[in-house]
Amino acid sequence: MLLKDKVGVIYGAGGAIGGAVARAFAREGARLFLTGRDLAPVEAVAKDVVAAGGSAEAAEVDALDEQAVDQHLRSVTDEAGSVDISFNAVGIPNPRARVPLVELDVEQFSLPITTYTRAYFLTARLAARRMLANRSGVIMTVTATPSRTGTPLVGGGGPAMAAVEALTRNLSAELAPQGVRVVGLRPQGMPETARIKESFGRYARASGLTWEQFQEQLASRTHTGRLSTLAELANVAVFMASDRASGMTGTVVNLSMGSLDD
Ligand SMILES: NC(=O)c1ccc[n+]([C@@H]2O[C@H](COP(=O)([O-])OP(=O)(O)OC[C@H]3O[C@@H](n4cnc5c(N)ncnc54)[C@H](OP(=O)(O)O)[C@@H]3O)[C@@H](O)[C@H]2O)c1
Repeated sequence: MLLKDKVGVIYGAGGAIGGAVARAFAREGARLFLTGRDLAPVEAVAKDVVAAGGSAEAAEVDALDEQAVDQHLRSVTDEAGSVDISFNAVGIPNPRARVPLVELDVEQFSLPITTYTRAYFLTARLAARRMLANRSGVIMTVTATPSRTGTPLVGGGGPAMAAVEALTRNLSAELAPQGVRVVGLRPQGMPETARIKESFGRYARASGLTWEQFQEQLASRTHTGRLSTLAELANVAVFMASDRASGMTGTVVNLSMGSLDD
């Protein structure tokens, strides 16, 4: 078991990526504290984990609320003694996607930038304070391919993802000398997730393509000729969270299956 006895906190654990990563971390022996803005979906994931023989507790925590994140981490360290892994998978809808930048108002442009950077900064900083005391831990981020490649009609989403990747590197530069790694995952759109079904569905309709045709078009840009899966992302997350990845920090894993050059 790669994560035996590791204590992990997941933000946005009721979502597609947070839930898949929670199940994978639990299979590898992690003791999990799952959080989300709404309790019900997080509780559902925790129930699944426990039913499968894993360890998970659910809590309602808004990742944008400094006090709530801090209080939750205090309760985790009181109960479990440490925080070894902090995995942030929060995602906010982008209702203004498909609006060209020249027509986008500044509030809508700024929303993903301020939301993602705040959530990632707060959760990382508050976890790091606990991890530094033990000179050990891993902070993990999730971004998307518009961080690195010109992508039309994603509003402030691309700049937000680029900022989170920069934060990942800069946190690593400060924390890794003291034993705390900071790594990111950059998946491509995974069609099995509700978020991608909804957003790519909109792009497909606007391009006059069916959902299947649109997926085929995206898959044709990868080296494998297919899009990646949540299970594949979760496997990489397990490895990156584990001590086997001790040689990796200040970097973002490119999970685009070749569609995006490093
Ligand atoms: N899905 C993909 O294929 C894919 C690919 C590349 C990158 N990503 C990125 O990965 C992230 C997660 O994607 P996903 O598909 O897992 O999205 P998702 O299914 O929508 O999950 C996101 C979760 O974050 C929660 N959340 C939002 N704001 C929060 C807050 N302030 N505090 C706590 N929890 C909050 C959401 O809760 P509510 O439901 O209550 O809003 C939801 O449970 C996003 O940043 C997305 O851009 C996803």
